[in-house]
Amino acid sequence: MLSYNAILRPELEQWSFTETAFHSLAQGKCESVMSLGNGYMGLRSATEEAYIGATRNLFVNGTFNRFDDLEVTELPNAADVTQVELMIDGKRFSLDTGTVTEYERTLNLRDAELTRAFIWKNAEGKRVKFEFKRFVSMQDLHLIGLKIRLTPLDEGIHLRLASGINAQVSNSGSQHFHEGEKRIFDKKYLQLVQTTTESKVDFVLSALHRFWIDGVSSDPEPLMEIERRKMEMAYSFDLKVGQTLEMHKLIQVHTSRDADVPDSVNLDSLRKHSLQALQQSETSGYDQLFLLHQQAWAAIWDRYAFEIDSKNGFDLLALRFAIYHMMVMTPMHDRRMGIGAKGLSGEGYKGHSFWDTEIFILPFFIYSDPKIARTLLEYRFLGLEGARRKAKENGYEGAMYPWEVAWPSDGEVTPVWGAVDVVTGKQTKIWSGFIEQHITSDIAYAVWHYYQASGDQQFMDEYGYEMIFDTATFWSSRLEWNEENSRYEINEVIGPDEYKEHVNNNAFTNYMAHFNLQLALGYYDELKERNPELLSRLDASLNLQARAPQWQEKADAIYLPQPDERGIIAQDDTYLDKQILDLTPYKAQAKVGTLFQDYSLDQVNEMQISKQADILMLFYLLENRFPRELKRANYDYYEPKTLHDSSLSFSTHSILASDFDDEQLAYELFRRAAEIDLGPHEHSSDAGIHAASLGGIWQCVVMGFAGARMLDGQLHLHPKLPEAWERLSFPLYWKGAKLQLSIRKERLEIQTEDKNEVRLVLFGKKVSFTGQLQFELIHI
Ligand code: BGC
Repeated sequence: MLSYNAILRPELEQWSFTETAFHSLAQGKCESVMSLGNGYMGLRSATEEAYIGATRNLFVNGTFNRFDDLEVTELPNAADVTQVELMIDGKRFSLDTGTVTEYERTLNLRDAELTRAFIWKNAEGKRVKFEFKRFVSMQDLHLIGLKIRLTPLDEGIHLRLASGINAQVSNSGSQHFHEGEKRIFDKKYLQLVQTTTESKVDFVLSALHRFWIDGVSSDPEPLMEIERRKMEMAYSFDLKVGQTLEMHKLIQVHTSRDADVPDSVNLDSLRKHSLQALQQSETSGYDQLFLLHQQAWAAIWDRYAFEIDSKNGFDLLALRFAIYHMMVMTPMHDRRMGIGAKGLSGEGYKGHSFWDTEIFILPFFIYSDPKIARTLLEYRFLGLEGARRKAKENGYEGAMYPWEVAWPSDGEVTPVWGAVDVVTGKQTKIWSGFIEQHITSDIAYAVWHYYQASGDQQFMDEYGYEMIFDTATFWSSRLEWNEENSRYEINEVIGPDEYKEHVNNNAFTNYMAHFNLQLALGYYDELKERNPELLSRLDASLNLQARAPQWQEKADAIYLPQPDERGIIAQDDTYLDKQILDLTPYKAQAKVGTLFQDYSLDQVNEMQISKQADILMLFYLLENRFPRELKRANYDYYEPKTLHDSSLSFSTHSILASDFDDEQLAYELFRRAAEIDLGPHEHSSDAGIHAASLGGIWQCVVMGFAGARMLDGQLHLHPKLPEAWERLSFPLYWKGAKLQLSIRKERLEIQTEDKNEVRLVLFGKKVSFTGQLQFELIHI
């Protein structure tokens, strides 16, 4: 069970959350939600001592490997460096034996530090105090630090401590590594090399241990062991009552994909570099390294400073939790890498990126740190290679983005087989990689969104136009002519609602494809006027002169489903004719997906049941194409049929509820989004945190409660705080200027240090200001 009040350290109130009792049957939750990282690597927070059911994960971004031809590429689980075996008086220490008091495991979001402490009494009645600390440095992306303190409280103890580097781990059984050389230098520095089997990425992990007894450095003779895929040092101590043993373990992680290491593809030089980096870390020492890490995080919190005065302290904590995880999972250092749907916190979704990045997470970066948003979009630019290949393989033209992507040029990497079908007992086929195609226009949308909000023309010239033109070309080759109805259709797809497979004219997909085509046409005309040179360069590789008339013809005749007499837009051609099931029992579920214990996916396909926001997502993205009453009618129709079985669902519903001025509903749904990872469900995060939902939490606040939107290239604000909130304050970047917004129930204030005039639309009215704007909300 997690506690959100920092009882023991009040200065960490709204900055931390704590596990107050350890349950070895539910380790996954804390391992994920308390995971550490820095975008380069992610370390799951498994405990130092081993338990059955623990998942020890260390992922380095972008190091994908394919175990064999029957599997898809995934982020390999590198050697474990966190396990430490502690033998006390000859018996293995475990929280499953003896008695435990004063237990707490805390993730301190402010300093990105994991701590654990408790007093353990063994079967013989001897009490020992344990304290653990851990960080993954935000200052040196390759560094992990671990600290352990042990103090016998009643009598002396004999302690044997064994720690090292253990490559006997796998990804749920798939072993991604060839064994490499293991070497111990100077009886002190451990180094283990492992190389991925197919992608041939070298990993070099180097580690050292240092000890102090009551603050005096101790240099015990280690027992050194090298086994298959494992190396370990064992140290023995006799501790007197009241004496404290302190161990520091420092680890350096490098791979041949490192862009910041000179000649990283040369294994010898990578090994040397890793060892030297470790020795430098040793010179600085744990405490100094932690201080630098702390400073790096202080700068992050300074940049993303959020303040919420709410009756519920949890709200600000939830937002900080979301920002923390977005920071630890985003590869800010390398544009060849993306964000996994579970970040770097678990094996779920194999480290692959989905539309989660562009639609759910990217807005946070667009409005808070546009440089990072640009890096993430450049990853998609590099992905054009795989997208073009996918289009060709499927008989289309242009760029057809993969539903799931790993290394950018890999192309489609969605697995083909999934969970059990309760009717047939066979594995269900995953169709998304073949027919969930809206991702292509989602990416074009994201490029446009970034450009509108940042004004980054250089990005567009170098990357953006090409992405938009070639995705439009995909759609124009994808559309199918329906002679009977004289229109272009998109048949045989999956829309955002993955409980409806092989449908025709999913409204979201059709409208977004239309948007993509129109976007390309608009930019084509604009470039003709403004930058013909660039247009002719792009024309040479993309054949634009021939393409543009095709885009026009398709955009003019694509079928865009219209509302029926009740004002309902059909999610797809057959949705509204399907049987309706009372979802009340399933909606009350503690766990997602319980419907599939009673029905197979084929059966669900034939009912009006949605997994997640589908048409409602469309209303959010293309908001000014649909009137408010129509949105409300569709919300009321579809929400009762939506199970919210995807974590992407609550935030979209919350934002729409804000748009309908239903603050209470918006707030309730915001809380439900926040509770996906931080809520009471013990197993909801076992496979990793829900990255898109974290971006969604930020969007609930900024797009929902502050009502910030980019519409027609302008920044709109329409704030309406939830009942429980007195004040909301946050930074927002718009066209290169940083705006600091402070919203109270009665007043909105915006400050900027930018010299230029800021123009925006407040409650539908144009306003402009320089420096500062104050606006009374009381009469709105
Ligand atoms: C959702 C998708 C999402 C994926 C990764 C699925 O369950 O239906 O929309 O992209 O998870 O988060």
